[in-house]
Amino acid sequence: AHSKVGCQASLATKYMETSEIVDLDWENLGFGLVHTDFMYVAKCGPDGNFSKGEMLPFGPIALSPSAGVLNYGQGLFEGLKAYRKTDGSVLLFRPEENAIRMRDGSDRMCMPAPTVEQFVDAVKQTVLANKRWVPPTGKGSLYIRPLLIGSGEILGLAPAPEYTFIIYVSPVGNYFKVLKAQKIAKQKGYSDVLYLDAVHNKYLEEVSSCNIFVVKGNTISTPAIEGTILPGITRKSIIEVAQSKGFKVEERPVSVDELLDADEVFCTGTAVVVSPVGSITYMGKRVEYKGNQGVGALSQQLYTSLTSLQMGLAEDRMGWTVQL
Ligand code: COI
Repeated sequence: AHSKVGCQASLATKYMETSEIVDLDWENLGFGLVHTDFMYVAKCGPDGNFSKGEMLPFGPIALSPSAGVLNYGQGLFEGLKAYRKTDGSVLLFRPEENAIRMRDGSDRMCMPAPTVEQFVDAVKQTVLANKRWVPPTGKGSLYIRPLLIGSGEILGLAPAPEYTFIIYVSPVGNYFKVLKAQKIAKQKGYSDVLYLDAVHNKYLEEVSSCNIFVVKGNTISTPAIEGTILPGITRKSIIEVAQSKGFKVEERPVSVDELLDADEVFCTGTAVVVSPVGSITYMGKRVEYKGNQGVGALSQQLYTSLTSLQMGLAEDRMGWTVQL
């Protein structure tokens, strides 16, 4: 087994050295899975420590039908991105934040988690091994999907006796491009769904894959992180970017009435980055957002600030990027 791993590792080194970019249709990249070369796999037994981990060819994994994740949903995922700079090198965006969130989530799910150091190191290794799949600058990014699953066999409801930490990657483009195609095909409907709180049915929660922001004048409001709201890393970053541009940002309950009365509305997430909302329909009433300075003007400005930092086109004064 050792020599097999050694051989795969040297294959990864070879890709790193040649560092050519794969021949893909970069212009038409959506948010769909593209198989890449390698995935990272590490296991953790009852002692709570994760093995060193190995880089394996991307492909199916074997799981017992009685694995904790299949029976009781004991598992979680993370998502982050790597961008290619114009000099060909690659930048990661705030990977320690994902490591910390995985640790917090795993605690809630009674799972052991890799250390922040092991997480970040594993992400770096996986991206470097698949470097040729990182899109050229401006054509998209490499989406990185870390998974932590209860892979051990269990019958009664209890934490699994073994866990697997996996990282796979896929080049991605625009998230909503995919949904837009569905929309045209269906000739009706909306791009996404916005959820309201379960108690009052009145306060904004999240859009299915992203956090939401409501703009009124110079104030930007977003639901506070209180149990049901995902502590998005893009959310947190956009709050800081907006504040540095002189906006007042409020984290608090935001009602649906404020949403309907807003100048501009946008979503944030790793997959969606910063996406303006064109319109919202609530109880049959449709509101279109035209913005103070044109449709989606602020979200466009925030998008550009964030992505130029992520792609290494602007100086990273925040210290958020990790150079590979
Ligand atoms: C993200 O990574 O931004 C996500 O929300 C995961 C998503 C693709 C469902």
